[in-house]
Amino acid sequence: MMESTAAWSLTVGEVDVESEQEVPKKRKLMLWVDDVTVDFDGFLALDHLTLAVDEGELRCIIGPNGAGKTTLMDVITGKTRATSGAVYLEGQSIELSKLPESRIAQLGVGRKFQRPTVFQAHTVHENLELACGAKHGVFRNLFGRTSRAEDERIDKVLESIGLADSIHRRAGLLSHGHKQWLEIGMLLVQEPKVLLIDEPVAGMSQSEMERTAELLKGLAGERTNGPSSSSSTTWTSFEALPRT
Ligand SMILES: Nc1ncnc2c1ncn2[C@@H]1O[C@H](COP(=O)(O)OP(=O)(O)O)[C@@H](O)[C@H]1O
Ligand SMILES: [Mg+2]
Repeated sequence: MMESTAAWSLTVGEVDVESEQEVPKKRKLMLWVDDVTVDFDGFLALDHLTLAVDEGELRCIIGPNGAGKTTLMDVITGKTRATSGAVYLEGQSIELSKLPESRIAQLGVGRKFQRPTVFQAHTVHENLELACGAKHGVFRNLFGRTSRAEDERIDKVLESIGLADSIHRRAGLLSHGHKQWLEIGMLLVQEPKVLLIDEPVAGMSQSEMERTAELLKGLAGERTNGPSSSSSTTWTSFEALPRT
């Protein structure tokens, strides 16, 4: 496949959006935020923000505290309504900004909040089993059997999140970083089309941060080049860190 390098950077309001990565030609537009403004009683958290993310692309949104990163995710997932503008999934075929939050999740927009929300008393494997059921709208109880396809998906995800050796550990006993990876895994088993991850490295050790960056880069590549039809857009948000 022909590869071209798309490097770009833009600043809208206080949110800096940067990308520099190999982008194959003829990518499908996966997510399009079109001229979105969010006005909280006169305070513009997002001010005419436009950006487009292609299928398989990893995008990092960088901005200081209060820049509007979480608000952007809230708008995409339907938690907050845009005052003006629109958000589309897969080209212009689905207007997310007209749909309720639950429908947006069902359509394959997965979201990870900043704080890990795993089931502490359950093992790593059980957490992933429970998440498999959530693909269909509800977290299934553990008496329901996972299908063979789901078992394979869980095994694959365990490899990518680096927790294959910890499947019987209770999630509550994992380090903060490992909990974050488990929660990313819980989203991945649901095979989202778009994955939004808010502040994935907040509170992590340096080595966990580096491992997380590798994990996220790996996901984008794998999803982009793999045979899977459900190529995913991975979208992450980092707090601005002082440059060293
Ligand atoms: N529901 C709300 N009502 C009023 N102001 C809000 C609301 N949510 C967020 N804000 C404000 O919008 C700005 C952007 O917040 P946020 O999106 O959380 O930034 P970030 O995630 O980049 O730190 C902040 O100044 C915040 O106080
Ligand atoms: Mg935030």
